[in-house]
Amino acid sequence: MNRIEISTRPFDDQQPGTSGLRKKVQVFQQPHYLENFVQSIFNALQDYRGKVLVVGGDGRYYNRHAIQVILRMAAANGFGKALVGQGGLLSTPAASHVIRKHAAFGGIILSASHNPAGEDGDFGIKYNVDNGGPAPERITAAIHAETLRISRYLTLETPDIDLDHVGGQPLGEMQVEVIDAVSDYAELMQTLFDFDRIHALINSGLFSMRFDAMHAITGPYAVEILENRLGVTPDTLLNCAPREDFGGGHPDPNLVYARDLVDIMFTSHSPDFGAASDGDGDRNMILGRNCFVTPSDSLAILAANAHLTPGYRQGIAGIARSMPTSQAADRVAEKLGIELFETPTGWKFFGNLLDAGRVTLCGEESFGTGSAHVREKDGLWAVLFWLNLLAVRRESVADILGSHWQTYGRNYYSRHDYEAVDADGAGQLMARVRELGTSLKGKRYAGREIALSDDFAYVDPIDGSISEHQGLRIIFTDGSRIVLRLSGTGTQGATLRIYFERYEAERERLHLDAQQALTDLIGVAEEIAKIRHYTGRDAPTVIT
Ligand code: G1P
Ligand code: ZN
Repeated sequence: MNRIEISTRPFDDQQPGTSGLRKKVQVFQQPHYLENFVQSIFNALQDYRGKVLVVGGDGRYYNRHAIQVILRMAAANGFGKALVGQGGLLSTPAASHVIRKHAAFGGIILSASHNPAGEDGDFGIKYNVDNGGPAPERITAAIHAETLRISRYLTLETPDIDLDHVGGQPLGEMQVEVIDAVSDYAELMQTLFDFDRIHALINSGLFSMRFDAMHAITGPYAVEILENRLGVTPDTLLNCAPREDFGGGHPDPNLVYARDLVDIMFTSHSPDFGAASDGDGDRNMILGRNCFVTPSDSLAILAANAHLTPGYRQGIAGIARSMPTSQAADRVAEKLGIELFETPTGWKFFGNLLDAGRVTLCGEESFGTGSAHVREKDGLWAVLFWLNLLAVRRESVADILGSHWQTYGRNYYSRHDYEAVDADGAGQLMARVRELGTSLKGKRYAGREIALSDDFAYVDPIDGSISEHQGLRIIFTDGSRIVLRLSGTGTQGATLRIYFERYEAERERLHLDAQQALTDLIGVAEEIAKIRHYTGRDAPTVIT
């Protein structure tokens, strides 16, 4: 069992984005590409000798191969033990929990989230630190710096190890422990939510639901938790067999990509509740009969009702949301008298606030909700939270949403994505709006006056670190907003995201179509940013 040193040369495109390094599978298949990045992670870390590393992924194509590579390199670099999900699988939230529960030094998660998978699809890798959360920018920057100066990596000359059977086996001087990918996580969920009550609702004969795992990682988790522990019938669970290519689909739980589920939920005899999760299990979409709950509203509703669940009965400390996420949760925080934090996009910005106990719930408009139970967003957690609320309130999803708006008013919200557009054009568009900057203040568009226009910068309240250029904001005096950002997770050209929000308190105007309610602002964005001109597109690729 020889430890070997392999000479290599840097790649200049290994800068981690919003959530780790994401590239086409073919890019990762270049000789040394994956190894360089893994060694750069280790080079950026200190004092891990003899410690525990968690490794797992969303099961997409290349997952199994990458895990063998990482385990050999972890052993050669001196880790004492690796905990690996059975079959190389771990959902992102489950990996976060395993890191925390087993007091690991950190973890490597293999996922490109909801991006399509397969030989021509995407692959991704990210490093999570000992709190279970994504590495903060200080560490991702150090990893990037290492990728630019790497000259050799360490590995072992060994055959592949068995990933499919639970149990321990040596790999060089490191111990590999293959663990059940689901049980730790399922037990955690049982401590947070009232499984008896949910079980009673599900078996009451008065309730029906569907959960769509989109052929991705949450399949086995849904079978264990929803079917085995909560008693749903097998036909409740859709697409629960994970596939390496996610069945050829795009496992992003939104109105466009989870079309099959949406079709089931929008008829007069639809089930009472529908939900889906994404490729790596951290996103969620919540639907009722003929009803879609925006992720921003979902965060606000979970916060307002958290006291109805065992895990949050004592109340919540505070709420954090990413800047582009709607301000619906702000109103709940105000009413509860708790702190509300506005952070840049990406879950890594919530870690410090969660660690410091300043917030309990976090959310992003991009179908991400989560809490202090782990340090990632968590798809099934959100589904179980909703089931717990439904089991206690015994109202429909639409009624819960409607009464929330009655109490707090409604933040009409939508995101328009222009995917895979020309990167130069998108860059010029952003530069133009950035240049307009403060000169927009005081100008009037569609009857509204601009109160503020800037490039969002965030000062972390816990460690004082500063993150700049986190999205262009155009905020009107009535609180309406337009936000423009370039995606940090896309793998082709550039993806422009434009976010629209407007608050409505008039009781008769709470049930408009969101696109109609936002028409004015959508027009203003075109007027200011010349989107058609710079993207060459007439319409967004995806509207959520
Ligand atoms: C997107 C979402 C962001 C989320 C990230 C990882 O990032 O917008 O909220 O945290 O995926 O799931 P983006 O592509 O916008 O950089
Ligand atoms: Zn994801």
